Amino acid sequence: MSALPIRQFGDPVLKERTREVENIDGSLATLVDTMIESMYEARGSGLAANQIGVQRRVFVYDVGEGARPVINPRIMETDGEWTYEEGCLSIPGLSWEIVRPNAVHLVGLDLDGNEISIEATELEGRAFQHELDHLDGILLVERLDDDQRKEALKILRGRTLHLPAADPDGIGSIFTRL
Ligand code: NI
Repeated sequence: MSALPIRQFGDPVLKERTREVENIDGSLATLVDTMIESMYEARGSGLAANQIGVQRRVFVYDVGEGARPVINPRIMETDGEWTYEEGCLSIPGLSWEIVRPNAVHLVGLDLDGNEISIEATELEGRAFQHELDHLDGILLVERLDDDQRKEALKILRGRTLHLPAADPDGIGSIFTRL
């Protein structure tokens, strides 16, 4: 399997809520492999299935301990507050300081159909919240304050849709892209 291009801001597939996965089978395992390859090729730390055009509730992430998928994820509880500079593979080259809960309790399934329950903080907790947003059709620009959003939309309106996911200037290396 090879990497697929990451869908970019303006693509309607990013604004739809994804559907629950019903069967954990070989085709889901293939999807997860493709998602992991696509995430790494784009040098991201997280990727939701709809970012490669698949409307299913699956995300993959790697915050330094290897890539893992989470199927049908749900956030059960959040706590605290953390400010972090967040980027998104679907909005390349931009990032914003975003305040979200620090600690999250995530549940879901792994590729064997076993239940996962993870208590995460900081970057891992942030990745979970960002990818859950994607699966609900919510993009990072919707998490900005009014001034940030105005500025962002001005920049984004000036861009052509379907930019390549590649980041030749390496600007993405200065912040985390999820
Ligand atoms: Ni993202």
